[in-house]
Amino acid sequence: MTIEKDCSLLGHNTFGIDAKARQLVEYHTVEELQSFVRQRAQAGDTTPLLHIGSGSNLLFLRDFDGTILHSCIRDFKVTADEGDYVYVRIGAGIGWDEWVQYALDSHWYGLENLSLIPGEVGASAIQNIGAYGSEAKDFILFVDTVDLQTGDIRHFTAEECGYGYRDSIFKHELRGRYAVTHVHFRLSHSFRPRLDYGGIRRALAERGFDEVNLTAAQLRQTIIEIRRAKLPDPKELGNAGSFFTNPIVEQQTYERLKTAFPDMPHYEVDERHVKIPAGWLIEQCGWKGRSQGAAGVYEHQALVLVNRGGASGKDIQQLCEAIQNDVETRFGIALKPEVNFI
Ligand code: EPU
Repeated sequence: MTIEKDCSLLGHNTFGIDAKARQLVEYHTVEELQSFVRQRAQAGDTTPLLHIGSGSNLLFLRDFDGTILHSCIRDFKVTADEGDYVYVRIGAGIGWDEWVQYALDSHWYGLENLSLIPGEVGASAIQNIGAYGSEAKDFILFVDTVDLQTGDIRHFTAEECGYGYRDSIFKHELRGRYAVTHVHFRLSHSFRPRLDYGGIRRALAERGFDEVNLTAAQLRQTIIEIRRAKLPDPKELGNAGSFFTNPIVEQQTYERLKTAFPDMPHYEVDERHVKIPAGWLIEQCGWKGRSQGAAGVYEHQALVLVNRGGASGKDIQQLCEAIQNDVETRFGIALKPEVNFI
């Protein structure tokens, strides 16, 4: 276990916000985490605790007067290999895209469309990360955790995790209660490409990749290139990917808006609900590419807020509120941040 006191969080959040924490604790095994939690409970320490991954979904509004926990559990194990499926248990501290690359190199398929998503394996199971028609939940079977109050181990089935769009029980009732230590994935030995998300087929054709003979490596490369064209690299421009979730509205709201905005893109969620791309709503309000001080809206994807250099968390928050106000006034829709404000 490593403990760093009075730690700068600059390298621990992709927005590049210069905040500090009282201490950063990094653990390498489940046992190290358990003993940290139990010692803390014994000492009656009730100072704030925040578990982070690679900080790709966080906005620090101020210094954090407590302990930041980070997992460096990086082991992995094939737990079963039966018929078309392989079952793999992955340490929470492994980078998400490192895992995707490793799976494809091993000829285990399914994760191709989730290529290049920032963050770590542990956070993927909390956030149910998703892109290009796939979600982490499609491949997660179980999640192993440690209770941050008692140090006890608890296993959750995917059903118990209550997965939904960018959502799980760990973001609601159990928020902050459990640290994910390992995630169990089920992948396939057969490559079955998912190409239905808008733009994938066109991007494949542009690269001369033939759908029938498509390889997983070609699909991964295409997804990576689509992402790079739309989303800024946090090493060059601080950001946390999509700042808002795409709002899901009632069918009647959608019908009302469609009359006024016939070109509005949308996806049907179920018989009564429709999802509307927040990026489109923000762009319609004239925010795409605009800035407010050092906080800005990315020019190629209006759903992404960026730190143009030296922005504070509060600068980004003010920009978020200005956008929310405009979208609410124009469309009557309340945008919800996907990023966690700390
Ligand atoms: N659009 C605009 N203007 C914009 C951006 C988007 O009009 O500036 C409209 C376009 O009509 C476009 C549609 O929105 O066709 C959808 O855009 P895009 O395919 O870029 O996806 P998104 O809905 O904006 C979601 C995820 C992304 C993920 C992509 C691809 C959320 C909150 N975001 O964005 O996730 O990469 O789909 O699947 O669901 C992330 O979470 O950090 C992230 C990047």
